Amino acid sequence: MSIFVDEKQKIFHLQAGNTSYVMKVVKEKYLAHVYFGKKMETPDMENALLNRNIGFSPNPEAEDKSYSLDFLCQEYPTGLGCDYRIPAVSAVYDDGSRTVELLYDSYRVIKGKPKLPGLPAVYVEAEDEADTLEITLVDPVKDLKAVLWYTAFSDRGAIIRSVRVENHSRETVTLEKVMSANIDFETADYELVTLPGAWGRERHIERQPLRSGIQSVESRRGASSHQLNPFFVLCSKGANEEYGEVYGFNLVYSGNFNGGAEVDQLFKTRVWLGINDYDFSWTLNGGESFQAPETVLVYSTHGFGEMSRTYHKLYRERLVRGKYRDSVRPILVNNWEATYFDFTEEKLLGIAKEAADLGMELFVLDDGWFGKRNLDDCSLGDWYVNKEKLPDGLDGLAKKIASYGLQFGLWLEPEMVSVDSDLYREHPDWCIHVPGRARTECRNQLTLDLSRKDVCDYIVEAVSSVLDSADIRYVKWDMNRHMSEFGSASLPAKRQKEMPHRYMLGLYDVLERIVSSHPDVLFESCSGGGGRFDPGMLYYMPQTWTSDDTDAVERLFIQYGTSLVYPVSTMGSHVSAVPNHQALRTTSLKMRGDVAMSGNFGYELDLMQLTEEEKEEIKAQIQQYKELRTFLKSGDMYRLKSPFEGNDTAWMFLSEDKTEIFAAYFRVLSKVNSGIARMKLTALEPEAVYEIAGEGKQYRGDELMNIGLSVEMQGDFQSQTWRLKKIMYKRKEKPEVFFHS
Ligand code: DGJ
Repeated sequence: MSIFVDEKQKIFHLQAGNTSYVMKVVKEKYLAHVYFGKKMETPDMENALLNRNIGFSPNPEAEDKSYSLDFLCQEYPTGLGCDYRIPAVSAVYDDGSRTVELLYDSYRVIKGKPKLPGLPAVYVEAEDEADTLEITLVDPVKDLKAVLWYTAFSDRGAIIRSVRVENHSRETVTLEKVMSANIDFETADYELVTLPGAWGRERHIERQPLRSGIQSVESRRGASSHQLNPFFVLCSKGANEEYGEVYGFNLVYSGNFNGGAEVDQLFKTRVWLGINDYDFSWTLNGGESFQAPETVLVYSTHGFGEMSRTYHKLYRERLVRGKYRDSVRPILVNNWEATYFDFTEEKLLGIAKEAADLGMELFVLDDGWFGKRNLDDCSLGDWYVNKEKLPDGLDGLAKKIASYGLQFGLWLEPEMVSVDSDLYREHPDWCIHVPGRARTECRNQLTLDLSRKDVCDYIVEAVSSVLDSADIRYVKWDMNRHMSEFGSASLPAKRQKEMPHRYMLGLYDVLERIVSSHPDVLFESCSGGGGRFDPGMLYYMPQTWTSDDTDAVERLFIQYGTSLVYPVSTMGSHVSAVPNHQALRTTSLKMRGDVAMSGNFGYELDLMQLTEEEKEEIKAQIQQYKELRTFLKSGDMYRLKSPFEGNDTAWMFLSEDKTEIFAAYFRVLSKVNSGIARMKLTALEPEAVYEIAGEGKQYRGDELMNIGLSVEMQGDFQSQTWRLKKIMYKRKEKPEVFFHS
């Protein structure tokens, strides 16, 4: 039982793991936010919910001057009653009026967690894992309802929120904004942490104190984007990996989003997250409803580390689905950086043969296998094999690759169309565009209009026929541009602003149909690397290509930043050639391997160019990863040194049963006489004894955590890793080995 309701006082108290979330209905109408933080008993409301008489803040209850919605901490504010802060919802009615008033109506508690129709969502496998509180708010004048959902998992510190708006009237209403969550905090004593970036530099960490006014993150690109992730954190000043209060907000959505914090005149903070209201509207006829995507809220009293581990476990176990949720991912070789578009079957088979000899398990054929695509200027949409390159087709190639003992995987970019393609010549209206205006290309391509059912059906059919044409076990689903000229030929004038969200609903429908009919295929999403690395995509595809930047140094930043919210089991991570194709940097093969191993491991280089020495090193890396991957996939990550704070980076993984450890230390530039570096582990049992694999040396947990392991490395771009196993005896049983009187 994780939801407690005080019927009389109308207090709602959710307990999720070590977290409490409390709301109360005040003045019998307004749903106030009381508390979100460390688990506690239900507080005294007079103490917890303050009122103040504030100048220039209107009083909706005329007799109570201490009462103002401009001051009250609210759950789902509308701006009515003169709350001048950012509203969570706005709408316009047929009669031109724009006022929304949402007053408390009713509640019910549902066992488990209901599905969100057509949208990706965290799920339960058994009803007793979680409870969901449904609170209904009603606009008494317009018969509009907002149904707020709050799911609390009993043993996970996550609260999942979403909102459905229902039009129960006879007139139409056009929603102009529907946030998925809003929280009003009493103070502004927080810092804001976000994950900005660009292509090849995704999810770097930025941190700044809150200040008066608005600080926000958003995407207007038609995708969650490389540029800002639909994730941010409010944390107490000075919070670090282990200490301090941290609140995470993550939207389970892959399109335009907006989230942020507004610090008001009294230094209170309103936080919101949802679909971007920029270029959004949604018209509801009488009887229709709109479902907003969900947000995952995580609170931690033990800094960023605990917050991340809560997200990681939740997403690994109750967001990602299908066969690969619970099984390890194959070690792959991808031909993109080895050949780009310039390959023959013979060349591919040469790489595949080498991959098999080295111990890899999956060969992925990237872009360039279809139509007449020898450059990125044509053929997207023409998903038939180029027989000049692959005379025996995909089936023939897959069979030859299978004869080496490898699985076969394929790249596709189904949401796109090249102007130079049969598909575009046949259906020029199928792309996103505004009639009479230029159709701006990006990477020589246009975006198909997935708000259209006929386009979605075509994609499902085209992709399914490719997948059924050969024994394909893996798909890299790419998406290489953002939208422009937002418009759809199939929508009436009044509904043009529905296109971006209708596109996402179309995409999710396509993905659901394809992944559910191909349950044995491992899907990896990609958008020019990590341009759509979000929980929405992870619901359909358990892993994402983290970045097109495969340089080991750059990857330290990208993977560290990504790990704030997404688990390493969702990050595609490959060893590539040097000098690196993006950063032009030459790093050691060891460092490239060690960085890539903290993710879904693979190679992306011409294996036929390797020296014998490199082959031996790669064989050893593959062997090491095979031994590690089961527990890396499900283990807890501890970030120990941040690349954003210095020259060295370190992290470790602890297996679920806490008996195995993989620790990695990375140094970017060498420093002469730089002093002693130590790898101090964490979260071990102080009295247990751990043995370092391959060395046989044994140390107690307290020594590993307080003195640490000595880091020995010379030169630029170095790394050192340790595998440790807990030895199942403690001091009492074998004291003589470790202690001298
Ligand atoms: C962008 C991807 O991120 C790359 O890995 C590669 O698949 C190219 N697209 C192919 O066009």
